[in-house]
Amino acid sequence: MTSSDLRERFEASLMPNYGVPPIALTLGRGCEVYDADGRQYLDLIAGIAVSSLGHGHPALVKAVAHQAATLAHTSNLFVHEREVQLAERLIGLLGGDAKVFFTNSGTEANEAALKLVKRAAGPGRHYFVAAERGFHGRSSGSLALTGKDSIREPFGPFGMDVRFVPHGDLEALTEAVDEHCVAVFLEPTQGEAGVVPAPEGYLAGVRALCDRTGAAFVLDEIQSGIGRTGEWFAHQGEAVRPDVLTLAKGLGGGLPIGACVGFGRFADAFHKGDHGSTFGGNPVACAAALAVIETIETEGLLAHTKVMGDLLAEQIEGIDHPLLAGQRGSGLWRALRLTAPHAAHVQEQAAVRGFLINAVSPDTLRIAPPLVITPEQIGVFIEALPTVLDAAEAAATKEQ
Ligand SMILES: Cc1ncc(COP(=O)(O)O)c(C=O)c1O
Repeated sequence: MTSSDLRERFEASLMPNYGVPPIALTLGRGCEVYDADGRQYLDLIAGIAVSSLGHGHPALVKAVAHQAATLAHTSNLFVHEREVQLAERLIGLLGGDAKVFFTNSGTEANEAALKLVKRAAGPGRHYFVAAERGFHGRSSGSLALTGKDSIREPFGPFGMDVRFVPHGDLEALTEAVDEHCVAVFLEPTQGEAGVVPAPEGYLAGVRALCDRTGAAFVLDEIQSGIGRTGEWFAHQGEAVRPDVLTLAKGLGGGLPIGACVGFGRFADAFHKGDHGSTFGGNPVACAAALAVIETIETEGLLAHTKVMGDLLAEQIEGIDHPLLAGQRGSGLWRALRLTAPHAAHVQEQAAVRGFLINAVSPDTLRIAPPLVITPEQIGVFIEALPTVLDAAEAAATKEQ
């Protein structure tokens, strides 16, 4: 089956919401993936910040295979050890005083957070605040909180009062949040907007504002969590703790799992029967997440992520090219900033040369490789980047 055969069948049988993706992948090994035509690529996007251990990591394979063979599913009518172990492990990494609800995806983690903060809110609280250009998922509650008008507006109204403020602007947030606010939903760095960090001190300012007004502080670390920035969680770099934390993506290393973590009074805010999910906390997904956390620890991947991230940033900054404006981000979560809106061409020309990167906005490409990437692999990409940029410029000129 060739890529083009598969793409044709995809188009005929799958809904058109993703368009037809240009490449059909069949195999992954470490940081490399292969397409249906046998072409090899360096995977610099990791399934959008998901495959943190790369592809086919023996620890993940073993944990998943063992759990699938032992007990693949229980539902939540029964306790199983993996979910308890994983919750305990996360609470340990977060510093205690917390409880966890497991989901299957990021958007479900945010839906759980939404219900949790509504349950915990006192009387008179009726609106939410979130950031312009923020992204929290595609299901209705998460979408209502998503600050990208083009993807939210066609599906409203949502029956929720959500007020949007500019990302990273503490003054605007302070104006927007008072004692009638249920919760503030934010990402520490906006991933889908193009890896855009908030200014230093912003999270601490949000924490103080929420303490003052009694609004809950929900931090969406679905993209930034589980080592992506070189910390277990991005907020730990700023020594700030939210009231509710949501996780997914890198947590399962490729298996679908998300988590909503409530701290302090939010740990026990749900009453029995308030929420549930048939597959949430599934034993196989929990076994995968335990293997991810264990491997990040045993292989020293937090420190490695910091070192590799700095190397990547430094080497990108060292390239002098008219299409390249620079980079931003932290750890192995970076944006290549362009001087012109040619990101789609850059993505395409990178793929032609065997590199998978993601055009996240017209003038920005996202790089979020497996955390196990090596300096040699970064070097190969950096060496090819000027040629990729030349080819993208040429393609853009031809198109005009
Ligand atoms: C910050 C953030 N929140 C939520 C989501 C939604 O996660 P999922 O696609 O698993 O529903 C994403 C996905 O990109 C995300 O980046």
